[in-house]
Amino acid sequence: YTYDETYRPVFHFTPPYGWMNDPNGMVYHNGQYHLFYQHNPYGARWGNMHWGHAVSEDMVHWKHLPVALAPDELGAIFSGSAVVDKYNTAGFGEGAIVVFYTSAGQQQTQSIAYSLDNGRTFTKYAHNPVIPNPGIEDFRDPKVFWYAPQNKWIMSLATSQSITFYTSKNLKQWEKLSEFGENIGAHTGVWECPDLFPLIYDGKVKWVLFVSINPGGPNGGNATQYFIGDFDGTTFTPDPLPYPLWLDYGRDNYAGVTWSNIPESDGRRLFLGWMNNWDYGNVVPTRNFRSAMTLPRELRLAHNGLHMVVASFPVKEVGDEKDGTPIIMDKLTEETFPIGADYYNNGYVLSFTIKPNGLSIFDFALQNSKGEKIIFAFDTNQKTFVVDRSQSGLSDFSNNFAKPLIKAPLTKKDSYTIHMWVDKASTEVFINGGEVVQTNIAFPTEPYNQLKFDLRGNTAISVDNITLYKVKHN
Ligand code: FRU
Repeated sequence: YTYDETYRPVFHFTPPYGWMNDPNGMVYHNGQYHLFYQHNPYGARWGNMHWGHAVSEDMVHWKHLPVALAPDELGAIFSGSAVVDKYNTAGFGEGAIVVFYTSAGQQQTQSIAYSLDNGRTFTKYAHNPVIPNPGIEDFRDPKVFWYAPQNKWIMSLATSQSITFYTSKNLKQWEKLSEFGENIGAHTGVWECPDLFPLIYDGKVKWVLFVSINPGGPNGGNATQYFIGDFDGTTFTPDPLPYPLWLDYGRDNYAGVTWSNIPESDGRRLFLGWMNNWDYGNVVPTRNFRSAMTLPRELRLAHNGLHMVVASFPVKEVGDEKDGTPIIMDKLTEETFPIGADYYNNGYVLSFTIKPNGLSIFDFALQNSKGEKIIFAFDTNQKTFVVDRSQSGLSDFSNNFAKPLIKAPLTKKDSYTIHMWVDKASTEVFINGGEVVQTNIAFPTEPYNQLKFDLRGNTAISVDNITLYKVKHN
């Protein structure tokens, strides 16, 4: 097969061949970030789920490794997580990597496997499953972490329309603690891929719970909602919600979870999502592979003026990789800003600051000479940031791709700083350090070679500090 295809990203993770969906088993161990993923090694559509595997020292340059887990008599290998068992609580060996996954057979049950060789090979536990099915059809995606205050492991599990928390002392025997989700959050789809973790805000610990849902995202298909609250080792208690909160309002960031075992000296909460949507994921116009991951992102809590949000922004390592000689323009003087071939062939990041100075509606677009474009539109009265990819390029592979305007809420601010990471088939836009995020894929038939502003003839508005960097890659 040919590795190079028109829509093979240059700086996003993709499987060399075959289908990929959710990131799985993300764990940092002995200087390497492990990324496992839902994988069909036999074809570029969903099926035969295995765990694919890659490692990286910087989350930018990835090395592909052989498939880590293959289906067995308990079923296919669905999504899950990994921990490092420092104190050998399971008895598999000190420092073993232990992975948790859903065995998807007649029923969905939870299984474990371990590695004593830096994740290069895994042995499935002889007495799987470790959690049998209690009669719930959608019963999957175990995410495990060590809860130090009570010396115990906690597992978050998606259980139909709720998240169930379990605990264990030895990773083999699990006991139910509590259930979360009744009368709160969006319930228009199945709950999947939970992740519960602490973040510090203003010197205090808050707990964040991610719940991916499909369908029922704010812009159709799948998306990741989250709750901010407290966790006491048994129960997650959410703070009151103004409305459901979404990690990313774009259509293409799903099933994302965070890395485990990041050293305390680093202290970051690192995230990666699947950059696609079940609405059309199986038919996007690639051939030998399907789907990329989002850029790895750092999560933090921020206040957007109205309420607390989980902000996300590409990790600094991705930034470190940028070409050191950016094109910089202090002030926008023309409505169009050219993007050279060197940039669009290699992937780039564009950033600038907009001060509306009274203007409430303005937009900018990435476009090419065929009239294909993605429009990014601000409306500070409606308080929306809308992405329109209806004329972005190929879209007839699905009647679900081009249609709706993709809306995110926006709070009124004096200035908006935009960072936009553009690869062959995706744009990831971060406003004000990731307080508002939109990740959307697109398939232009010729690369976008222009950024065009529409400032409605207004001269008070300013666009400053425009920079354009190349992104280095493998
Ligand atoms: C989410 C998901 C998970 C499941 C996996 C199967 O995208 O549906 O709930 O474990 O994909 O591939």
